Amino acid sequence: MSLEAWYMDSSDEDQRKPHKLNPNQPVTLDELKTLGVYYWKLNADIYETDPDLEQIRKEQGYSYMDIITIHKDKLPNYEEKLKMFFEEHLHLDDEIRYILDGRAYFDVRDKEDRWIRISMSKGDLITLPAGIYHRFTLDETNYTKAMRLFVGEPVWKAYNRPADDFDIQRHRNAGH
Ligand code: LAC
Ligand code: NI
Repeated sequence: MSLEAWYMDSSDEDQRKPHKLNPNQPVTLDELKTLGVYYWKLNADIYETDPDLEQIRKEQGYSYMDIITIHKDKLPNYEEKLKMFFEEHLHLDDEIRYILDGRAYFDVRDKEDRWIRISMSKGDLITLPAGIYHRFTLDETNYTKAMRLFVGEPVWKAYNRPADDFDIQRHRNAGH
């Protein structure tokens, strides 16, 4: 099984709804790759001992990891954090998330600034490149548990849009 992604409609209904266009306009893994977004499917039931995860972490240098449970009874300042996660932002490092349970959506901007919604569920690992505008939301099931991976010490700092003055942005925008 592969992950599902699509172009979003522009309705301001509940962010947790799928927001597919009608007819649906799917986005392929290859299209995501051209944006620098990469995907792996893993067996989340064995994440603690998974040799495939070990190998990815070694190859990519993902030395840091922690696990975050996003649920109203588990995450301190739940409402505030969800609101923050859904603000369009970027980071100066890659964002790497491995969904261990539940589901969530990552939205990323394509090169024409259109929103692509990436549907993530158990076993999906995704990497968003430094400098890409993105946001995150739970879906209508209101729960996910995710491993956060990082190259070296984690830097969680998010720059809300507009954040166009970084070198990293200039490089990303140089091609078009
Ligand atoms: C983050 C995700 C929510 O920055 O984009 O943690
Ligand atoms: Ni982020």
